[in-house]
Amino acid sequence: MDASARASNAFYLDRQARRESNARSYPRRFPVALKSAFGSTFTDVDGRTYLDCLAGAGTLALGHNHPEVIETLQDVLSSGLPLHTLDLTTPVKDQFVADIFDTLPSGLREEARIQFCSPSGTDAVEAAIKLAKTATCRTDIVSFRGAYHGMSQGSLSLMGSLGPKGSVGQLVPGAHFFPYPYAYRCPFGRGGEETASLAAEYFERALRDPEGGINLPAAVILEAVQGEGGVIPAPAEWLRAVRRVTRDLGIPLILDEVQSGVGRTGSFYAFQKAGIVPDMMVLSKAIGGGLPLAVVVYREGLDLWKPGAHAGTFRGNQLAMAAGSKTLEIIERDGLVERAAMAGRRLRANLERIAAETPYIGEVRGEGLMLGVEVVDPAGRPDALGHPPHGPEIARMIQNDVFRAGVILETGGRYGSVLRLLPPLVISDEEIDQVSGVLASAFERLGRKAA
Ligand SMILES: Cc1ncc(COP(=O)(O)O)c(C=O)c1O
Repeated sequence: MDASARASNAFYLDRQARRESNARSYPRRFPVALKSAFGSTFTDVDGRTYLDCLAGAGTLALGHNHPEVIETLQDVLSSGLPLHTLDLTTPVKDQFVADIFDTLPSGLREEARIQFCSPSGTDAVEAAIKLAKTATCRTDIVSFRGAYHGMSQGSLSLMGSLGPKGSVGQLVPGAHFFPYPYAYRCPFGRGGEETASLAAEYFERALRDPEGGINLPAAVILEAVQGEGGVIPAPAEWLRAVRRVTRDLGIPLILDEVQSGVGRTGSFYAFQKAGIVPDMMVLSKAIGGGLPLAVVVYREGLDLWKPGAHAGTFRGNQLAMAAGSKTLEIIERDGLVERAAMAGRRLRANLERIAAETPYIGEVRGEGLMLGVEVVDPAGRPDALGHPPHGPEIARMIQNDVFRAGVILETGGRYGSVLRLLPPLVISDEEIDQVSGVLASAFERLGRKAA
């Protein structure tokens, strides 16, 4: 193999396909081998540059290779600090805990405890569930349709999507699924504001019903904006109702902020729009500044774990903690939470303009820079609410088309029919308009093709 062939996407993709698991997913949609990345862009080994609206599945709040984060990592590397510390403390860890606690809402901050977990989001979800069960001496967990909490067996048992669960068989028992306030595809067939009030009422009645068949759960876990489930923001009044009911019934409420946290939705945590305070929070992705890190933060009253009740070798990633602290500092200094809100408004307005011109978009929704475009098939039979059916093939065509034009967008939601935009919080107005222009052209081409 000569050097020029070795440097091509095709070379690496072929080797990847022959050696890596059939479960690999992103390379099927984005057939590239990455070479370098900076800010909101990356460049493949063929020298093509892409605008990255996936950003490590929402991990890269500051985009790729932020120079100050890189400098911090270099400082740690040359300082002699042990990089691997189990759960022993260090000055870097001490600072990181202080920085995380500073982000917590009042009402939790004063009585917070933190557990460092193995480094992915799903590990922290597992830890939260274990802790809730230990603290309440109960077994069942309430989750919501469309939920995504990760791919390990406990998290999978709380997942809405049936795809990854189907072949695994019996998962962790005691999971119950309630309707999430997804108004566009209303689980009650009503839509609009009624969806949230019906979902709240249903939730409360079911949990209070002595003949409801559901044991008082150890926890209720939810995302304030469902991400993988199709970018579905929960209305504030529904979040407040869930908080009220869980508090009244003594059920710990776990907010999974793995994807929506750290400024992504235009508030530091997505639940803050509702003014609620959870009993536990699960954090990962952006919290490690782009490096693997996951924690559970919870009220100290729940801390009924015995020493060693939760462990894991890789809980002491000093580089991730240093990168996380630096990221939090930059987010605060540069007003990036407000910036995410403002940039999100711009992107959303652009997307709504596109939606106004095409029959293929059913809804544009989301918060801050966590936005989704529900793609529909206008030729299909509308549902009871008058909405055309999901358009997964059309969504995939758009995804491929924008990829060819240099934009990376993931799909999600039911049947994969929602285009998801999760760019770094530092994306510029110019880049936003570029992404929007590429999307607009893709939908325009589709219109011509379908005509
Ligand atoms: C809300 C939410 N929770 C948990 C997870 C799982 O995180 P990880 O993939 O790091 O295990 C994800 C991942 O996308 C997520 O979006």
